[in-house]
Amino acid sequence: MYFFLCATVFLSISTANCDFVTEYYENLIYQRTAEAQVYEIPQSNAEFQTGYESTEVNDFGSYDFIVIGAGSAGSVVATRLSEIAEWNILLLEAGGEENDFNQIPSMFMFLQLSEMNWGYYSTPQTNCCLGMIDHKCMAPRGKALGGSSALNAVMYVRGNPKDYDKWVELGNPGWSYEEVLPYFIKSENSQIDGDSGYHGKGGFWNVEYALPPTNKFSNFIDGNVELNVSPLDYNGQDQLGVSKTQVNTKHGKRQSTGTAFLDNARKRKNLKVVTKALVTQINIDESSKVAQGVTFVTNDKKFSATATKEIIVSAGAINSPQLLMLSGIGPKSHLEEMGIQVIEDLPVGENLLEHPLFQGLSFHTNYSSGSADVETLITNYLNGYGPYTSPSNIDGLGFIHAGDVPEDVPMVEYLFITAGGSMMPILRRVYNYNDELTYHYLNNLNSDSDVVFYLVLLHEKSRGRVSLKSHDPIDFPNIDLNLFSEPEDIDNFIVGIEFILKLVETEAFRKINATLVDIPVCQDFEIYSRDFWDCTIRHMSMTLYHPCGTTPMGPDKTTSVVDSNLKVHGIEKLRVVDAGVFPSTISGHTNAPAVMVAEKISDVIKNDYQVLNV
Ligand SMILES: Cc1cc2nc3c(=O)[nH]c(=O)nc-3n(C[C@H](O)[C@H](O)[C@H](O)COP(=O)(O)OP(=O)(O)OC[C@H]3O[C@@H](n4cnc5c(N)ncnc54)[C@H](O)[C@@H]3O)c2cc1C
Ligand SMILES: *[C@@H]1O[C@H](CO)[C@@H](O)[C@H](O)[C@H]1NC(C)=O
Ligand SMILES: *[C@@H]1O[C@H](CO)[C@@H](O)[C@H](O)[C@H]1NC(C)=O
Repeated sequence: MYFFLCATVFLSISTANCDFVTEYYENLIYQRTAEAQVYEIPQSNAEFQTGYESTEVNDFGSYDFIVIGAGSAGSVVATRLSEIAEWNILLLEAGGEENDFNQIPSMFMFLQLSEMNWGYYSTPQTNCCLGMIDHKCMAPRGKALGGSSALNAVMYVRGNPKDYDKWVELGNPGWSYEEVLPYFIKSENSQIDGDSGYHGKGGFWNVEYALPPTNKFSNFIDGNVELNVSPLDYNGQDQLGVSKTQVNTKHGKRQSTGTAFLDNARKRKNLKVVTKALVTQINIDESSKVAQGVTFVTNDKKFSATATKEIIVSAGAINSPQLLMLSGIGPKSHLEEMGIQVIEDLPVGENLLEHPLFQGLSFHTNYSSGSADVETLITNYLNGYGPYTSPSNIDGLGFIHAGDVPEDVPMVEYLFITAGGSMMPILRRVYNYNDELTYHYLNNLNSDSDVVFYLVLLHEKSRGRVSLKSHDPIDFPNIDLNLFSEPEDIDNFIVGIEFILKLVETEAFRKINATLVDIPVCQDFEIYSRDFWDCTIRHMSMTLYHPCGTTPMGPDKTTSVVDSNLKVHGIEKLRVVDAGVFPSTISGHTNAPAVMVAEKISDVIKNDYQVLNV
């Protein structure tokens, strides 16, 4: 009671005498950041082993719909389907609840070193991740209510209208920008001064600017303007320009789809949510090819549940393909190799799309961001502003064109990052950098005065693959990123690098004496030559953690896994609804599109059962 009263007063009126709340957060942050530094990343789903080995299968009952995974998409699907009171929904999630720590946006990287992350790494790479230990990049994925939106960087970036028009060109009617825009708007509760006609108010999901920007933000905007790159709303009419960051927070606290959507929907009697439950199999009748139900493990016990209407797989772009393959849906020869009986031969996992991230452009400046003490940071956070409300102080971002995409579509995104202070102790582990990059690069960074540009390659030509390690659901899947196997991707990235090198030569950046931090790798090449950048990109790049396209939608069974209504080809009563269904790359981040896909398909399902306007 005291806590509640204090917190209420604290949030609305004054701060000074609520030491209790500040102290609670101070301890929480101290404890969780310390735990992260020594956290041992799991190498398999061993926590579910006992239940999986159990020979007794308990009946968990029958539902109209079973949704697998309460992530960005699954939380939204479960929320929308349970609006129909006569439908019973079962939502199964492998992870647990969210908490006060994961709600602090600036702490997001620490969550990768916690049980909220599955713990995946890529397979050893030959074209990329060369500066990482064992040539493996980390591949974090959320494991909690809210899924990856419970540990992501809360950036709200929808992509370009032409991205969605391309989905239609690829044979998917209904997904043009004009047709999907209403679903972006439906979810949104926008607090920003965006372009009119592009934003929603009154939706479940809050969008605001991370505020206030740090003192170097004006240098960023001014420098861009000097280069004729203008400020705009990148989720509005045009995308080639520069902006403050739009984020999914509410008064500075993270809004995952768990908190934004599911928290309310869970109060409904017709929605049953089970956490810490790993689905190990979709049960499909082999002769009729109808999906019947699922087998899952929770609390060291094994259960089966049946679905009378449909099963919706929303386990994300890595786990959905794994689960489909374990259940007999996937590339025939690969399944046979794994000893799995083939029910439907489909190219599951074969079209992994990613957004490569190059973070080798750090600049020393002679302008300090000025660090505040933790108490002040917490006080500000609880009042809805300041560095704790922002992921790594990603103050702003911009988009530039390159390569063969249409003229008004960006190829490279650049994020402007100031003061990554609190992350420094764990950056090494999160990047998986080898000793050379750790001691001769990371350790030379000065989190108070440096600025860092993250470059994102939006339309990669290279393709990766998700495959099985074995037929055992306790094993993690294989994630082969295969970034930069096409040299064109390097050329497009270099356009971005050259732009940033020009940007820091502007008057605005000269004012803070921005000087490139030496890159220790690839010193055998002529410095800043094409070969130097090629080598450096392959050493230092990782991804922005945007896997998609592993169960793409399309009309052709040899190149796609689901149809334009997201039904699995050849199987009845089974849909995939998550980022895996994107058939091609997005000029944005993947969370908002995953939510849009879930919103749209929920209406398709309601329409199929003729309850849409009931
Ligand atoms: C560190 C990080 C930062 C990111 N930053 C951003 C950002 O700032 N902006 C942005 O737009 N995107 C960002 N992304 C990407 C974005 O969050 C994802 O693309 C999006 O959340 C994907 O949604 P999804 O529904 O496809 O999958 P997810 O949200 O990953 O949901 C899958 C869910 O299924 C559960 N699950 C999986 N397998 C099983 C199983 N067998 N049984 C039961 N449950 C299962 C998982 O635990 C998870 O909860 C980031 C991602 C990461 C990892
Ligand atoms: C600008 O940066 C360079 C390189 O780091 C340094 O030598 C120089 O002293 C700096 N100038 C000012 C005015 O700080
Ligand atoms: C930083 O360096 C620039 C360029 O040398 C100089 O004009 C400016 O006064 C310096 N600012 C500070 C705070 O030292």
